[in-house]
Amino acid sequence: MKGVILAGGLATRLRPLTAVTNKHLLPVYNKPMIYYPLEMMKRVGMKEVLLITSGGHVGDFANLLLSGEEFGLRLYYAIQQNPTGGIADGLKLAEEFAQKEPILVILGDNIFNFDLTASIKRFEDTIAKDKKGAMVFGVHRETLAQQYGVIEMDAGGKVISIEEKPEKPKSDIAQTGIYVYDNRAFDFVRKLIPSARGQLEVTDLNNMYLAEKSLLCELIDWWVDAGTSHDELLQANVQVAEFVKQGKL
Ligand code: G1P
Repeated sequence: MKGVILAGGLATRLRPLTAVTNKHLLPVYNKPMIYYPLEMMKRVGMKEVLLITSGGHVGDFANLLLSGEEFGLRLYYAIQQNPTGGIADGLKLAEEFAQKEPILVILGDNIFNFDLTASIKRFEDTIAKDKKGAMVFGVHRETLAQQYGVIEMDAGGKVISIEEKPEKPKSDIAQTGIYVYDNRAFDFVRKLIPSARGQLEVTDLNNMYLAEKSLLCELIDWWVDAGTSHDELLQANVQVAEFVKQGKL
């Protein structure tokens, strides 16, 4: 399995903080935001990680992260020319890098302390048996406020639906920015059409796996998407500081 971190976009919701820098380089407590997904990649044993970002800031990432040696992995860089193409559009750039292996995808602004190791083992066991599959990760949220994808699950933990930022959420489970895909993800992405906001949506990709009944879902306890708003970024800083001091992150 190979790792892919998506750290592109324009982050207009965080202006003016992001007027001259990429949001994934902004501080979250004592580190740049991008360190958190990178450290998670290392924790789950990824040896090679592709960082996908925008052309204007790829040099800043390279200056900061260099070869990835500090993180105990090998880093590769790719440029998403269209910063508003969406997550699934960015994933296209990982096809050659993945070399037919499954991929673990983490959005560069997602911070969590859940150890993905057992989930990845479950995914790999499923792939060995069924030869296909994908996995999404959900988290209970008090308010979803049209900020996230929403996962509806049955009592047995099976996914019933995933909707991107619905007006009327069918559950209180937010779809996090952590995904595992078999190599067919790249074929699926080629079939996607842009959403109303003009992006190739990761939710549409996940729904393709759901339609063929090969989508797994795991719930995690704590997660922040630090890149959604100034309040989320502030909250991420406060929570991460607490968790680091308590040895939970
Ligand atoms: C994306 C996904 C959304 C998910 C979120 C998590 O949203 O489309 O389903 O809940 O990441 O960070 P975006 O950040 O592109 O608005």
